[in-house]
Amino acid sequence: MHWRNRLFITLALIYGLLGGLIGIAWLIDPTPLPGDVALLHAHIMLLGFIAMMIYGVGLHVLPRFSGRPLYSERIADWQLYTANLGLWLMAAGWLAADVALVAAGGALSWLAIALFTLNILRTVRRYGPGG
Ligand code: HEM
Ligand code: HEM
Repeated sequence: MHWRNRLFITLALIYGLLGGLIGIAWLIDPTPLPGDVALLHAHIMLLGFIAMMIYGVGLHVLPRFSGRPLYSERIADWQLYTANLGLWLMAAGWLAADVALVAAGGALSWLAIALFTLNILRTVRRYGPGG
C-alpha cells in the first residue's frame, strides 16, 4: 500500500479516537474546552474519521477495481496536505470562535474533496469499448 494511503487510514483512526474522547469529555464536563465543541467534535468525526478513511481506502481500492493506475499520485499527495491542514484550521477556528479561520479551513477541506473528485473521476472513467 502507498505510504500516503496508509497515512490517511492511520490519521482517520486517530481522528476517530480523538473525536470520541472529545465527545466523552464533553459529556462528563462541558466547561474545559472553549468555542463550539459540538461542531469541533462533529467535523473531527465526519471530515477526520469518515472522510479520511474514505480517502485512504478509495485511493487504494478504486484504481484496482477499475484495473487502471491512479490518475495522479501528486494530486493525491496534495489532497493529503489540504485535507489535514484544512481540518486543523477548522478545529482551531471552532475552538477560538474565529469564523475566518473556520472559513479558511473549510475552503482547504473543500479543495481536498475537489482534488479527490478529479483524481477518482479521471481514474474510473470509461476508456472505450469494453472498459
Ligand atoms: C465515542 C463516540 C461518540 C461520542 C461519545 C459522541 C458524543 C457526542 C456528544 C456529547 C454530542 C453533543 C450532543 C449535544 O449537542 O447535545 C455529539 C454530537 C454529534 N456527534 Fe457525536 N459522539 C460520538 C461519535 C460520533 C460519530 C462516530 C460521529 C460521526 C461519524 C458523530 C457525529 C456527531 C454529530 C454530527 C453531532 C452533532 C453536532 C451538532 O449538534 O452540531 N459522533 N456527539
Ligand atoms: C468543506 C467541508 C465542510 C465545511 C466548510 C463545513 C462547514 C460547516 C459549518 C460552518 C457548520 C456550522 C453551521 C452552523 O453554524 O450552524 C457546519 C455544521 C455541520 N456540518 Fe459541516 N462542513 C463541512 C463538511 C461536512 C461534512 C463532510 C459533513 C458530513 C458528512 C458535515 C456535517 C455537518 C453537520 C452534521 C453539521 C451540524 C449541523 C447542526 O447540528 O447544526 N460537514 N459545517
